[in-house]
Amino acid sequence: MTRGRFISFEGGEGAGKSTQVQRLAARLKGGGREVVTTREPGGSPGAESIRDIVLRGEADRWSPTTETLLMYAARRDHIERVIRPALTRGAWVICDRFADSTRAYQGAAGGVDPRFITALETFILEDTRPDLTLVFDLPADVGLERAHARAGAEMRFESKGMAFHERLRDGFRAIAASEPERCALIDATGSIAEVEAAVWAAVEARLAVHG
Ligand code: TMP
Repeated sequence: MTRGRFISFEGGEGAGKSTQVQRLAARLKGGGREVVTTREPGGSPGAESIRDIVLRGEADRWSPTTETLLMYAARRDHIERVIRPALTRGAWVICDRFADSTRAYQGAAGGVDPRFITALETFILEDTRPDLTLVFDLPADVGLERAHARAGAEMRFESKGMAFHERLRDGFRAIAASEPERCALIDATGSIAEVEAAVWAAVEARLAVHG
């Protein structure tokens, strides 16, 4: 059986990823495919438990290095129990955040050595890597304003301050620029319909959706 396709959505706070994950899933399901939508940190029961401790509390509750390890513990469980089995049975997996969030949040914005993150990618991800990554881009202040409007308990990263979020945006843009064959930069300032069209254009152009 052919392996399914793996698409990740990435970007800073309030970029509108979750809405677009659902819209893309609906379109792909309309084509008769099995589509699994999931998210990180989380996506499996064990990883959701880790999410609860990593996203709540004071901004400095965990250091960026500890966050990296928690994210990768959650990611490994998610990969083993959800992502790999789905890809193996031929499903398309759409994940709201994946490994690039660790590179950007803990690495570019948090200061964790990129060599440490690359080593974790090698041993924890192995060959489970996205075929396509949609990097949602918008000014940090616009995203934070949107994120605060839907405030809840999981606000640790939103509360890290504007300088952190500016570094974060630069980090995501640098990832997209350094891996153009995998990544598409999506202008997330437009309307929901405009962003949906940009997402679909990238998926059609890069993955064989009509086959
Ligand atoms: P979200 O579900 O609203 O996207 O929140 C997840 C938060 O976790 C978001 O602030 C980004 C952060 N995060 C990291 O810092 N590193 C990671 O590897 C992942 C997956 C998420």
